[in-house]
Amino acid sequence: MRKIPVTKPYFTEEEAKAAAEALSSGWVAQGPKVAEFEKAIASHEGVEEGVATTSCTTALHLAMVANGLGAGMDAIAPAFTFVATENAIVTTGATPVMVDIRRETFNVDTDALARKIETDYEKQDGVVKNKKTGNRLWGFVPVHEFGLCCDIHEVNRLAKEYELKVVEDAACALGAKIGDTHQGGFGNTSCISFHPRKSITTGEGGMVLTDDAAAAKRMRELRTHGSTVSADARDKRKGFLLPEFIEAGFNYRMTDIQAAIGLAQVKKLDQIIDEKRKRAILYNEMIEKTLPEFRTPTEPEGYFHTYQSYVCMLDIKRLGIDTIREGGEYRNNLLQKLEDIGIATRQGTHAVHMLGYYKNRFGYKPEDYENAYACDHLSITLPLYIGMTDDDQAYVVEMIRKTIDEG
Ligand SMILES: Cc1ncc(COP(=O)(O)O)c(C=O)c1O
Repeated sequence: MRKIPVTKPYFTEEEAKAAAEALSSGWVAQGPKVAEFEKAIASHEGVEEGVATTSCTTALHLAMVANGLGAGMDAIAPAFTFVATENAIVTTGATPVMVDIRRETFNVDTDALARKIETDYEKQDGVVKNKKTGNRLWGFVPVHEFGLCCDIHEVNRLAKEYELKVVEDAACALGAKIGDTHQGGFGNTSCISFHPRKSITTGEGGMVLTDDAAAAKRMRELRTHGSTVSADARDKRKGFLLPEFIEAGFNYRMTDIQAAIGLAQVKKLDQIIDEKRKRAILYNEMIEKTLPEFRTPTEPEGYFHTYQSYVCMLDIKRLGIDTIREGGEYRNNLLQKLEDIGIATRQGTHAVHMLGYYKNRFGYKPEDYENAYACDHLSITLPLYIGMTDDDQAYVVEMIRKTIDEG
């Protein structure tokens, strides 16, 4: 049976060689390769500092803590994202508050965001407070979903108006741009992922990007249990002195083995994005001709989508289906039939408000964030990876057509 995975990492012998060199150097925990990798990623994104971590989830947690998020505070994030966005907020002790997204971009609806603040919050003693709980509104965690930047300029405008913080979840968006500015360059802390489903991978891994050298220093300390070496100890260079621990930090360190692999991967990054963009355009053309039931992904004017994932939406009206719930059943059935013939597809990502923990804790209903709910039920990620051929793409589209026609 012809097998088409939904994605796969792109490795050559360079990554194996890099990992072997790290092993034979004897330095396998965080060391010089991590520092080099941080510089390479920060420089690619046009940002001053990179702080490598074990994952994007830990990068988000680290960035949120360093930006002062904690108990008694609210952080607003989109309802359609990978659960890690909200989980990181919960890990700080803060309360995640959700807003809906736009179906066309899968990104935060900034009008809904503005409405949320106007209706649910009020200014008291110079801070924005939740009218019901009294929690202080800390800020926003916008997501650049699937490799497309959200309307970050509007998010930033709102943050400025209400004097709030922003940590960007750019897990999927390494290399994504608005105009000439890469994610990471919009004036906030941003966090990326090196999970194997992302453009480049270190197995697991993540990084915080920032232009603020003092914040980067603090995050490096927090990443290593809150370890600080006093200026006095550094001056006297007493290597045997243990560091001081003023804060309770974490162990979020990336290894030099991972960073060595990452350094080999980053050399391929532009080529990977370029090829994925070409394949996305080819899918758009094929789908527009063959699959009127599918809505292809959007790339708004001036935006540069990296297509970490190529995510379409089912147009249920064209299929004669009335409700999103039934549309979801149809979509799942379609994905199962494709799986049965060797073509791997996935739903885009989750409506987090419908996931057990969040649904139970906050009593959410599907219609609370109806676009997130619709995208959860009707989105379809098609296979896209380096090494895929035009013929593979034609086969995927042809098999979807056939599966739909056979009913
Ligand atoms: C939007 C988003 N945020 C966070 C994460 C978490 O990334 P990681 O797996 O590196 O922790 C992901 C991973 O898929 C993601 O898609």
